[in-house]
Amino acid sequence: MANPQDFRGKWALVTGASAGIGTALARELASHGANLILTARRAERLEALAAELRGRGVDVRIVVADLNDPIAPQQIFDATEGAGLTVDIVINNAGLGQYSAFHESPIEQEMSQIRVNCEAVVRVARLFIAPMVKRRRGWMLVVASTASFQPVPYLSTYAATKAFDRIFALGIAAEVARFGIKVTALCPGTTESEFFEVARAGRFKRRSIQSAEEVARQAIAALARGQRTIIPYFNGRFTALLVRFLPVTLITHVIERAARPRTGEA
Ligand SMILES: NC(=O)c1ccc[n+]([C@@H]2O[C@H](COP(=O)([O-])OP(=O)(O)OC[C@H]3O[C@@H](n4cnc5c(N)ncnc54)[C@H](OP(=O)(O)O)[C@@H]3O)[C@@H](O)[C@H]2O)c1
Repeated sequence: MANPQDFRGKWALVTGASAGIGTALARELASHGANLILTARRAERLEALAAELRGRGVDVRIVVADLNDPIAPQQIFDATEGAGLTVDIVINNAGLGQYSAFHESPIEQEMSQIRVNCEAVVRVARLFIAPMVKRRRGWMLVVASTASFQPVPYLSTYAATKAFDRIFALGIAAEVARFGIKVTALCPGTTESEFFEVARAGRFKRRSIQSAEEVARQAIAALARGQRTIIPYFNGRFTALLVRFLPVTLITHVIERAARPRTGEA
């Protein structure tokens, strides 16, 4: 299938649907007629989005869950696929960052990035991909980042988690392609969302920021056609290419100087 219209009538799970890119991905899928399972911690946000999407004629379920909890993916699975829904599309989007000098950063924020950005992604993927393999049909999007292409000092753990996401998605994609399942790594650049407030990284919100809607539009089109990697922003495509040819120590040094927190900032 090479057309997002083919998602019509299928169930799509979106993690991190309460804000930013996740909300935009849910809206984009609904615009192609997909039914939505929305999950995140903020129930009222999910309720409001569900009401909006139901108004567009699609069926919507909500599962409130905290992906810091290793049991949460199983609870999401039990409430959906385990309860008889056929989940054909999985959007592994929930994530967070933490901008800080590593030696001063709150350890729980560091570990939360590993739990939500990596552990939960693997658990959700493992649970939902097994029935997809049985059905010989399915699509999974893993939201990585352009931060996955090189180290990012002061977002060191975050960039490492996103490298994990991208490499994980590419590996899984190669494994399950023979069963007719498509897996795409989405690598957004700076995108309009709540990410920078959560990460306390407001200074990186550039004027050239891309809208979450445009990221979602490109991501869902790429997922439908089975593209392995999508970098939705030109600048991101350019830097992803550049870092292949420059020494990683040089790139990391330049980023370290540019990103170093100013006195009293982080
Ligand atoms: N914005 C960017 O510039 C950018 C660039 C590249 C990649 N990304 C990636 O895009 C994805 C979405 O981020 P965003 O930019 O849309 O940020 P956002 O606006 O802050 O949204 C993050 C989403 O993740 C959910 N989430 C966070 N922690 C969670 C937890 N413990 N349990 C369940 N859900 C949790 C949040 O929901 P609740 O708070 O309601 O739980 C929210 O829905 C992330 O994976 C991020 O790394 C963002």
